Amino acid sequence: MNCLKLINGCEMPMVGLGTWRAQPQEIEIAVESALENGYRHIDTAFNYNTEESIGKIIEKWIASGKGKREDLFITTKLPNFGNRPTDVKRFLELSLGKLNLSFVDLYLIHMPFSFQCNETTLTPLVNEDGTFALDINNDIIGTWKEMEKQVENGLTKTIGLSNFNAEQVQRIYEAAEIKPAVLQVELHAYLQQKDLRRICENLNIAVTAYSPLGSPGANTHFSMKYNYKIDDFPNILENPVVQSLAEKYEKTPGQILLKHLVQENISVIPKSGNPERIKANINLYDFELSEEDLTKLDDLDKKEAGRIFNFLFFKGVEKHPEYPFEIQKGK
Ligand SMILES: NC(=O)c1ccc[n+]([C@@H]2O[C@H](COP(=O)([O-])OP(=O)(O)OC[C@H]3O[C@@H](n4cnc5c(N)ncnc54)[C@H](OP(=O)(O)O)[C@@H]3O)[C@@H](O)[C@H]2O)c1
Repeated sequence: MNCLKLINGCEMPMVGLGTWRAQPQEIEIAVESALENGYRHIDTAFNYNTEESIGKIIEKWIASGKGKREDLFITTKLPNFGNRPTDVKRFLELSLGKLNLSFVDLYLIHMPFSFQCNETTLTPLVNEDGTFALDINNDIIGTWKEMEKQVENGLTKTIGLSNFNAEQVQRIYEAAEIKPAVLQVELHAYLQQKDLRRICENLNIAVTAYSPLGSPGANTHFSMKYNYKIDDFPNILENPVVQSLAEKYEKTPGQILLKHLVQENISVIPKSGNPERIKANINLYDFELSEEDLTKLDDLDKKEAGRIFNFLFFKGVEKHPEYPFEIQKGK
């Protein structure tokens, strides 16, 4: 299995199964099919509502003798409404309870900004005017120190960050005793994050690409849930360069997009509920893209303009002092 060796010596498989927006009826089939097809890395989060189903399938898989817990690399994340030192252990234990595991392999701070917690629903607290109740006193260094304690407590092997910008990553890195091992960010052909990748490489932080296919399918989700314009969403799979490379290499457009990243040492966590696509998405090692074709894909980068996940659907989030992104005109 192709893995990235992390700063603490753990090995993170290059390809993992993403599970955001996986429907309850599809998630168990997806995880089962992923394990059958050689996936050993599964990405979830407290707020994806997939942890229980993942835990159920892992338990079944181990009981059937097909593999052991130590063969797996399971990632979950501290939610943005639990983003404070006093809540880290509580939310990690809640996730472990749902996953039915005694530890995870990687625990990430999901987002650098934080909201107050609605304790009844364990979701972000929303004000009467629809804005999200910001917790502006959040101390990301203090939260990181609590993350470190969870490694010492044995509840997670590795800790890392998600959606942090370069300055925030550096700030955590400098204050950390246990350095962040992984940064998980949106990364695909239209948002290639070259500067952030260089910084991570210098700090020995592995990068995981979320939405590596450009999250097709999120367009209807966003337009129905948050009133976004469907045309704002890119369709990278149908980009003519990607299509022509798919034809040339006799691969799917999805495999071309994923290979572009893994060949540059980025781990990927494509989500699929479809067994055929699950199988294709990990079958990336029987071909190599030529230097010339890698350059063609590199040239598709739209930098910040290619970002899909600016989190502005959390109304008012941009007023949080740790909001990480530049706001693009027209978004
Ligand atoms: N840290 C964060 O803040 C954050 C944010 C977003 C996502 N994530 C993680 O990253 C994972 C992946 O991101 P994502 O789900 O946004 O997007 P993605 O993996 O780029 O795309 C998933 C979509 O692509 C379709 N698909 C999968 N394989 C395909 C293929 N080979 N050809 C064509 N279509 C294909 C899937 O549909 P089918 O299911 O029908 O195949 C699904 O609609 C998430 O599931 C989650 O685990 C993390």
